[in-house]
Amino acid sequence: MSAGNVLLFIIFPYVAMAVFVVGHWWRYRTDQFAWTSRSTQLLDRRVLGWASPAFHYGALAAVGGHVIGLCIPQGVTEAIGMSENTYRWFSAIAGGIAGLVTLVGFIGLVYRRAVSDRVRRTTTRVDIFTYFLLTVLIVMGCWMTFGHNLLAHAPYNYRVSVGVWWRSLFYLQPDVNAIRDAPVLYQLHAIIAWAFWAAFPFTRLVHAWSIPLQYIGRPYILYRRRFQGAR
Ligand code: HEM
Repeated sequence: MSAGNVLLFIIFPYVAMAVFVVGHWWRYRTDQFAWTSRSTQLLDRRVLGWASPAFHYGALAAVGGHVIGLCIPQGVTEAIGMSENTYRWFSAIAGGIAGLVTLVGFIGLVYRRAVSDRVRRTTTRVDIFTYFLLTVLIVMGCWMTFGHNLLAHAPYNYRVSVGVWWRSLFYLQPDVNAIRDAPVLYQLHAIIAWAFWAAFPFTRLVHAWSIPLQYIGRPYILYRRRFQGAR
């Protein structure tokens, strides 16, 4: 096991996890007024109407795919009767749609931010860094899903390498050997993803934890006219 591998696949992920947890605590304690998406909807609605839902629904589906692909061992899907081939097509088609929808929405959001003068002026350096990390991760993710899974003659099974390493981090028995021989593209995607998680608490992405779930169960708000016949 080389020192570089230990640094990238053990030390870096644990440092990122620590920064993720402590960073959220720090941000919440010191910067609650800025705990927001800093929405620019009022400045410019064009493009946002389709790009924002596309990005958010696509990203949500991609997160679901990651949870299934990385958290569920291949042995479990096989034990419930799903062959590796069936799983491959399921993940490739669902992941391909999720990746494409995320990418199209993201391109729309970047285009809007670049073209609209009012939106561009609200863009901070942290936003640009966040957009940079997202660009790299989404492009790499789509490249893997399309190039190495959906359209590949011999698809790469990351569940026996990246997946094993990823889970081993949470068992506190990091298995570097599992990811050591994975294609560089997969290794880079995973490492940059840890950088993304470390940066997360310091960006506007924290708004993801403030989904107004109470809206689903709350009673309707009833509006009544104050005076009979008033408009
Ligand atoms: C340590 C964390 C992560 C690991 C180990 C990981 C690993 C992977 C792997 C192996 C794939 C290919 C799936 C396939 O071929 O079917 C993939 C796809 C993808 N990844 Fe990640 N990823 C991580 C975090 C992220 C993050 C933080 C983002 C973006 C914010 C992201 C965005 C994507 C996208 C858009 C795809 C293509 C769509 C899909 O298949 O879901 N990933 N990732």
